[in-house]
Amino acid sequence: MHVSFDLAAALDTALRTAAGTAGMDVTAFNPELRTADPRHGDFQANGVLSYAKARKLNPRAVAEQLVAALPASTQELCTAAIAGPGFINFTLTPAALLAWVQAQNSVEHLKAGAASLHHGQRYVVDFSSPNTAKQLHVGHVRGMVIGEAICRLLAFCGAEVIRDNHIGDWGTQFGKLIWGYKHLLDASALASDPLEELERLYKAADAATKADPATLDAVRAELVKLQAGDPENLALWHTIIALSAGAFTEIYRLLDIHFDHQLGESFYNDKLPQVYAELASAGLAEESQGALVVFHPEHPRFKTQPFIIRKSDGAANYASTDLATMLYRTEHFRADAIAVLTDARQADHFEQLALTTQKWFAKTGRQFPRFTHVSFGSILGEDGKAIKTRSGDPIKLKALLAEAADRAFILVTEKAPDLPEAERRDIASAVGLGAIRYADLAQNRSSDYVFSWDKILSFEGNTAPYLLYAVTRVRSIFRKAGLDPTDPTATAGATAPETPAELALARKLATFPVSLQLTTTQLRPHFLCTYLYELAGEFSSFYAAEKVIVDDPAIRARRLLLCARVLLILETGLHLLGLRTLARM
Ligand code: ARG
Repeated sequence: MHVSFDLAAALDTALRTAAGTAGMDVTAFNPELRTADPRHGDFQANGVLSYAKARKLNPRAVAEQLVAALPASTQELCTAAIAGPGFINFTLTPAALLAWVQAQNSVEHLKAGAASLHHGQRYVVDFSSPNTAKQLHVGHVRGMVIGEAICRLLAFCGAEVIRDNHIGDWGTQFGKLIWGYKHLLDASALASDPLEELERLYKAADAATKADPATLDAVRAELVKLQAGDPENLALWHTIIALSAGAFTEIYRLLDIHFDHQLGESFYNDKLPQVYAELASAGLAEESQGALVVFHPEHPRFKTQPFIIRKSDGAANYASTDLATMLYRTEHFRADAIAVLTDARQADHFEQLALTTQKWFAKTGRQFPRFTHVSFGSILGEDGKAIKTRSGDPIKLKALLAEAADRAFILVTEKAPDLPEAERRDIASAVGLGAIRYADLAQNRSSDYVFSWDKILSFEGNTAPYLLYAVTRVRSIFRKAGLDPTDPTATAGATAPETPAELALARKLATFPVSLQLTTTQLRPHFLCTYLYELAGEFSSFYAAEKVIVDDPAIRARRLLLCARVLLILETGLHLLGLRTLARM
């Protein structure tokens, strides 16, 4: 039997075809297919209700006609039952489950199936995007790990992904940084920890301007010189950017985060006049007290709260460069979709940016790409307030990652004291970094979450250690039996799942595509996390209920087949989320 990767999509198509056969208005009928409560089936179509209601038809009668008109191949795939006022529940047949599970025999195969989800779409994903010369702290980690996961997932699902690190490399901070560099530099401190020293210079310059008005003038003069293209200051600006980029790169390497481009704010400097001119001539921007602003009369707040796109002193700001960025991503990258990740505090900025760009592009005959501000909540300390060190400073990311590996090392040593130390260190690094990452991904990104070492490093619950451990458990089944999970001979002759635990596990496996679809359309990795957690739970129940290595070759093969696919999907999912999986722990 041939079954497609995305069974939900296949059923959706079948229902639309059946609607045509049954003489329904196919343009008005949406099957509204979703996953069902497992007690009722695998999928449920609710669309008959609204369709029938709008036409004053009996929904159960419509549902019956629809089910009768389903193509024969669908009847092989699942059984359909009409429930309640006219829902249709579909339960995959054991034969279809076997066919699906057998077909998904490699990452390449999964990827080929998933490619239909976003095939042909070009996404620009703007993530991480820190400001030059500032330390990365715990607040930066969320955008990095969610961004990286989103990029991997979209690419896995067929999209062409362009990753852009939109560094904040042009701004008023450079007046202080350059002045500080010229007057207060400690060269050896700079050599040993550039970001630390740059941050110290910034703070010292800031303090100096507050103490002495003459210094304030000197700082301003440095900024003006930089903006006017003074060679000495431009060279210093380049130096500062390179130093800071080097420090960022170290963390990106540690967290396995990648970019195709690092087009910072400064890249857009020469592209701003066009933005001002076009927005003014389109009648969207107006002068207000010397500044150039855009209002949105139809919006409850933005009709009075201006989007300032050029400051009254003529200088560019965050909005100016972001408008130029929208244009560049649309015209140069020919993006179908743009996603920008920042925390939720920038919601207004991006709403105004999207509204303004949409109108601007409409006036100038450009296609407006789909735009998503992928916003996220804050990470809170256990006291429910923004997470800080004891002295009240933000926690540096480097320190956080090091602490994660140290804490994981203690745990791993408790669990497996006999493993060689080098291996325990390696496991600890995967578990520690994985725990930080997974904690960020497993929460709905819109919510704040409370950071707790005990919680994220726990081997119970929806955590990285739990999932990484589940992977090693499946691996150990094969290891103990002397088998290779990718070797098809171990699973040859598998029969269709039969026992309740086998069926439940196979059904869970077959909804992997649904979790990919949810995750990539909403750009919310927690859907995939929840799925993987549930899959690992289903595996645990299966493993508690059934012996895998039994004498009967058909039963052994079908159970090994389920184990092999659990392993494949768990590992694929965790890799997409950016976790490194382990053979044992
Ligand atoms: N540098 C900004 C910040 O640290 C984030 C930039 C996000 N991207 C953008 N195109 N605005 O807040």
